[in-house]
Amino acid sequence: MPISDYQLVEAWKEVLTLSRLEPGQSVTILTGAATHPQTLACALIATQSMGAIVNRLDLPPVNGEKALSRDALAYLGETPLTGNHAAIAALKASDLVLDLMTLLFSPEQHEILASGTKILLAVEPPEVLVRMTPTLADRTRVLAATKRIENAREMRVTSAAGTDLTCPMGEFAAIAEYGFVDAPGRWDHWPSGFALTFPDEGGANGRIVIDRGDILLPQKRYCSEPIVLTVEAGYARRIEGGVDADLLREYMASFGDPEAFAISHIGWGLQKRAYWSTLGLYDREATLGMDARAFDGNFLFSLGPNNEGGGKRTTACHIDVPLRRCTVALDGVEVVRNGKTVEARDDH
Ligand SMILES: [Fe+2]
Repeated sequence: MPISDYQLVEAWKEVLTLSRLEPGQSVTILTGAATHPQTLACALIATQSMGAIVNRLDLPPVNGEKALSRDALAYLGETPLTGNHAAIAALKASDLVLDLMTLLFSPEQHEILASGTKILLAVEPPEVLVRMTPTLADRTRVLAATKRIENAREMRVTSAAGTDLTCPMGEFAAIAEYGFVDAPGRWDHWPSGFALTFPDEGGANGRIVIDRGDILLPQKRYCSEPIVLTVEAGYARRIEGGVDADLLREYMASFGDPEAFAISHIGWGLQKRAYWSTLGLYDREATLGMDARAFDGNFLFSLGPNNEGGGKRTTACHIDVPLRRCTVALDGVEVVRNGKTVEARDDH
């Protein structure tokens, strides 16, 4: 259902306050062909009302002819910023970039963040943004989870459906996504609420069973029959099952890149205002699927690049898969048990 401009302006102000926006700071709102007009209009009002110097930078789309889907994350790599020195300079000169275009997994994004600019991605529909307006409590919870990742050297994931995956960790940092950007050079995504890292390069081994009801992104579908991934030395070497497995295999093969099959980020959802069931209520074109990525107690793994985490692997293909009913253990200590988060005593 729609929400009012007033509600969305207030939500923006909350997120901008959490992101420590100060009067006189420079904000650039990055927009593209798919930017939601209400989100843009309300971002313009909220930033100006807080005394910021506000710019809008609208960039033409790229990759449409290469991607097999309209999803903004369906084809990574080249972005409207590639080779665009004027735009990069403008973004680097900004204190805060509000990314209403989706500039993810690109070297240009890293370059802009390295200059100290903060970037906040916000592309979900307005009512989803408002429902999952981030809070300080979200940050506390996600940071506690990332601390547990940082202190661990192995993540093991099991499920009654047959998943048994072991990932050595420590090569890559833990990443906290809690929905706002409160430090220079920080990137985040509103809405979110999960902690993640990447397995040591080539280290993931075992089996992942994507069970009935688990979600594939960017397919934005609930799996109707199990898909079995055999993981050896960091890559899904076999993808087996019925029609859903065939669809996934053909989609991934269309990129013609063996790196697409690498195990990418691994972590779990911590957002109690995100729901597994939401994807079934939305038109697939209307959402990026952040409810699916963030719902509390999921095990979210992905296939594809690890450059977001500081690795060397880039590939245009990226698949996110939130699984239900898994048990996730860090060095033998459960952080998710059968799809429910297990709070550490010092989380509160
Ligand atoms: Fe992902």
